[in-house]
Amino acid sequence: MNDLILAIESSCDETAAAVVRDGREVLSNVISSQIPIHERYGGVVPEIASRNHVLQLPGVIDKALEEAGCGFDDLSAIAVTYGPGLVGALLTGVSAAKALASARKLPLVAVNHIHGHIAANYIAHKDLEPPFVCLVASGGHSHILYVKDYTDFEILGRTRDDAAGEAFDKIARVLGLGYPGGPKLEKLAQEGNSEAIPFPRVTFGEDCYDFSFSGVKTAVINYVHKQEQKGEGICKADLAASFQRAVVEALVSHTMAAAKAKGCSVVALAGGVSANGALREAFSVAAEKEGMRLYYPPLILCTDNAAMIGCAGYFAYQEGRFADSRLNAVPNLKL
Ligand code: KG4
Ligand code: ZN
Repeated sequence: MNDLILAIESSCDETAAAVVRDGREVLSNVISSQIPIHERYGGVVPEIASRNHVLQLPGVIDKALEEAGCGFDDLSAIAVTYGPGLVGALLTGVSAAKALASARKLPLVAVNHIHGHIAANYIAHKDLEPPFVCLVASGGHSHILYVKDYTDFEILGRTRDDAAGEAFDKIARVLGLGYPGGPKLEKLAQEGNSEAIPFPRVTFGEDCYDFSFSGVKTAVINYVHKQEQKGEGICKADLAASFQRAVVEALVSHTMAAAKAKGCSVVALAGGVSANGALREAFSVAAEKEGMRLYYPPLILCTDNAAMIGCAGYFAYQEGRFADSRLNAVPNLKL
């Protein structure tokens, strides 16, 4: 044991590289965020993201190796996110990883970004082992998964329309909060009354753990329009708090119900939305009530990073699952 993996992540607007030892020990975790670049457009512009990945990747990779105190000769493999995500953005990381693996004669490991988000929990919690139920809630995904093993997953529930993070981003835009919406909406919600406006919670029957967030999104937009028509103002903080509560309650109740049905008493959270304080708090309360163990990563490992890709890559590496020079980006890669 002493496998060092260099991991590269470029699926959206973070250019990231990390070196991870034996799957769980992070030697370096370099993240170059493009938030200041995309902020003025109110969202990620794919073409601009790709161009900036190309500019940033060499420096970010060098820095990750330097901070880890190692060189290419010390590595066991190179892991890279190949989907899901923005095709151009993914391609920059995949191309860099393929070139480095080929030049340095290193095995190449292709990592599903969602597997990476789940794996962030293994880095943060050395005692965590499958099986457990994991909620992955990010800008593009909202899944409840049964993590049977490090590389084996069963989908228990998923969103039928918008992802939770996407709903946060859209409502933040309606409220004029800007990009990225999730953290800004959370901050505003802290000043509001979460019971002020009753927004809908959608369920699809007792044994179904799927989500739908388009209904609550539309309800918020309709509420704003109605208030405007009546010439009445809106309390943005109350609206943010009430919206956040509706989303959080759906995420918590469906995940806990799925875990119970599965007879599983270990629950983990992952993805950008798991950085949300109200969500963490609500899960903590629910887990305590149900006598379940709850895990979530520190904030820096909730949102996109390469350490989580190095961790997920390590488990695929151990199983000898290698990619070759034909590896391509798969923007709509499934679990
Ligand atoms: O996992 P991530 O960094 O990228 C994707 O894989 O999508 O997640 C980004 C998403 C965005 O939609 C962002 O608004 C949301 O996570 N997010 C949050 C918070 N921090 C990030 N949503 C709610 N509260 C937060 N504190
Ligand atoms: Zn992500």
